[in-house]
Amino acid sequence: MIIKNFSLYNFRNYNEQKIDFQQGINLLIGSNGQGKTNILEGINYLLTGKSYRVKQENELILWGKDKFYLQASCLVNDRLIKLESYYETGKKVMKINQLACKRLSDYVGTVNAVFFSPDDLNIIKKSPNERRRFLDILIAQVKPAHVSLLNSYLKIIKQKNILLRHEKRIDLLKGQIQAWNEQLVEIGSKIIINRGVFTEKLNNYCRTIFKSIFSVDDDIDLVYSSLGKKDINEALSIFPEILEIKMMLEIEKKTVIIGPHRDDLLIDLNGKAAKLFASQGQQRSMVLCLKLAEMEIILKEKGDYPILLLDDVLSELDEFRREYLIEYIDSANKQTIITMTGADQKIVNRKKAVYQVTNGSIRREE
Ligand SMILES: Nc1ncnc2c1ncn2[C@@H]1O[C@H](COP(=O)(O)OP(=O)(O)O)[C@@H](O)[C@H]1O
Ligand SMILES: [Mg+2]
Repeated sequence: MIIKNFSLYNFRNYNEQKIDFQQGINLLIGSNGQGKTNILEGINYLLTGKSYRVKQENELILWGKDKFYLQASCLVNDRLIKLESYYETGKKVMKINQLACKRLSDYVGTVNAVFFSPDDLNIIKKSPNERRRFLDILIAQVKPAHVSLLNSYLKIIKQKNILLRHEKRIDLLKGQIQAWNEQLVEIGSKIIINRGVFTEKLNNYCRTIFKSIFSVDDDIDLVYSSLGKKDINEALSIFPEILEIKMMLEIEKKTVIIGPHRDDLLIDLNGKAAKLFASQGQQRSMVLCLKLAEMEIILKEKGDYPILLLDDVLSELDEFRREYLIEYIDSANKQTIITMTGADQKIVNRKKAVYQVTNGSIRREE
């Protein structure tokens, strides 16, 4: 997949800007605070319909303005696709080839991107929430209906939580919880299955890739742990029963305890939890491995490589892994947009285009 050109109007620190991108490596160079990340955020927003940085679109509007507009012409399997996104306080419109999409699930995954920034170390280091999010974003890219499932699930959890907090009459409460639980099992099981299936796909790619970027003696292992079980089928078969068993506990705690919103993607290095035992360098290699596996899954499912967005990550990788990554990008001339503060000669030698980013303005170098 290729983003041929990208335009921003009143997005972050850009007033009006158009950029033509090339196949292969595109370098965005500029000192801190100039707007490099904002460009990647804009592209990522346009492709996914969501910001990975903020919950409120208002924050994306150029200060002092009241709307933003993004647009790109892309190629997917050599087919031209025009994406547009428009936001004006409270109103959000996403269009594919001039047609407005009613739901995010009709829009997301049309053009795919894999985004990689230093913050992605959180996938390994931080809470299960980060890992579920990583997995859900990947699934949504190739199976957009997953977004609708997640939305329905969130609504159920929200309603059940309201009930647990406010209904004081215990018999009434139990009956209503049972009704919500039926829906929770129906939607929740589909989410568990999706996540389980994609974890297996990821694991297969990761195991091979990791040996090339780390060492043949080291093993990465991913397991989706649902309802405390490492076996998805076991989790699915006990799901209704656990909800029954834990009902009194949920009533006591006044919150939903059981369900895939509490699941985790376990990431091990040589049989031990990477979060606790892997070094910082090993964790970085593992994240790189997850991202490359994501690229391969999208290629397999969509027949075309996604656009790779690398925000300040090259400087964080050691020489060997940086070389590996650049070779990987170069091998199929994958479109990659890389931000960095200074020009690294090795990358500049392979680049197709260099852009200088200065205070919300972009100029291509000849
Ligand atoms: N909504 C906004 N309107 C105007 N400027 C913004 C907005 N949000 C962020 N900025 C500015 O964008 C700049 C940060 O851009 P960023 O892309 O993160 O920089 P970098 O080049 O370091 O990646 C900061 O100067 C910040 O003040
Ligand atoms: Mg930045």
